[in-house]
Amino acid sequence: MKIAVLIDKPRAAFLPNEEGFREDEQKRKTALGLQEVISKYHECVILEADINLPLELSAEKIDFVFNLCNGIKGADKLSQVPAFLEFMGVPYTGSSVLGHALASNKVYAGKIMKGIGINTPDFIYVHNVNELDWHDITFPVLVKPCDEGSSRGIYQDSLVYNMKSLKAKVAENLRLYNPPVMITEFIDGKEFHAGLIGNGDDLYLLPIEEICLDNLPDSMARFYSFEVKAYHKDKTTYICPAIIDEGLSAMIYDIAKCVFEALSLRDYARLDIRIKNGIPYVLEINSLPGLLNGYSAFTRMANACKLGYEGLVMKILESAFKRYEITTFT
Ligand SMILES: Nc1ncnc2c1ncn2[C@@H]1O[C@H](COP(=O)(O)OP(=O)(O)O)[C@@H](O)[C@H]1O
Ligand SMILES: [Mg+2]
Repeated sequence: MKIAVLIDKPRAAFLPNEEGFREDEQKRKTALGLQEVISKYHECVILEADINLPLELSAEKIDFVFNLCNGIKGADKLSQVPAFLEFMGVPYTGSSVLGHALASNKVYAGKIMKGIGINTPDFIYVHNVNELDWHDITFPVLVKPCDEGSSRGIYQDSLVYNMKSLKAKVAENLRLYNPPVMITEFIDGKEFHAGLIGNGDDLYLLPIEEICLDNLPDSMARFYSFEVKAYHKDKTTYICPAIIDEGLSAMIYDIAKCVFEALSLRDYARLDIRIKNGIPYVLEINSLPGLLNGYSAFTRMANACKLGYEGLVMKILESAFKRYEITTFT
């Protein structure tokens, strides 16, 4: 079996800024880590997805893809490479077109969660600033883009306390990000990552991780904003396994499993959760969580249990093999 670890073509050519370089660099390091593990069991190469993907996959005689592509531009970016692979009939790890599309759009994910009775912050969404006048808003609220990740568009000043700042922030978001813009109830509480791995009856919760923001400068609001992720990593502490009682962790498992199934996810996913008054609220679902060993939450959660990083990589691969009824593991 020949496996390709597939990454986006480096974006430096499209987006020459610090953020673009950093993300491309992380993806390449992630791919090298995966290749090192997978190569112990299968032939494994790293490929960059671009318009020549079909030619490359057949020229390289690829049997299976470990998909790490977030997509580069356009709507529903995460679904683009899976759609390509479906069209070509090449099996791959992780969620399908539908799963990535639903999870990566926070408006749709939020509606589905509300529809099945999962607690998620209340939200409205608008396509222009005037629509805000139709709503009765209880401040503070957090303004966020509907389909970004890595806290892009979620800055300290995205937490707003009055209509004037809300209108200014919404106008700015409408200029910079895909519409609609979300205005969400701010959940003031501890924050956790919940990682799921597997499928169906073989779906497991990794040890839950708490993101502790207590050491941030006093002037900063306690949420995982872009500034915190980019400039205050050293002030962020991760506690894994989180110290939470068994009842709560069982509740998080039930919630995570429900969401995973409702959004049609596959193989692995990570939920961001905040707990307020003992109630877990799902902030969002990552259908393609980072897998850079030691750096990404998912790997810290795997390293906190007997699975470990190598076990994590192979478990994702084997979960995907099982779905496709691939039984030859070499
Ligand atoms: N409704 C909310 N209440 C409180 N904090 C929130 C809420 N939504 C987002 N956040 C904060 O912003 C961070 C980033 O938001 P998230 O929805 O996870 O976006 P991203 O996809 O960019 O990670 C979260 O980790 C959390 O700290
Ligand atoms: Mg998040």
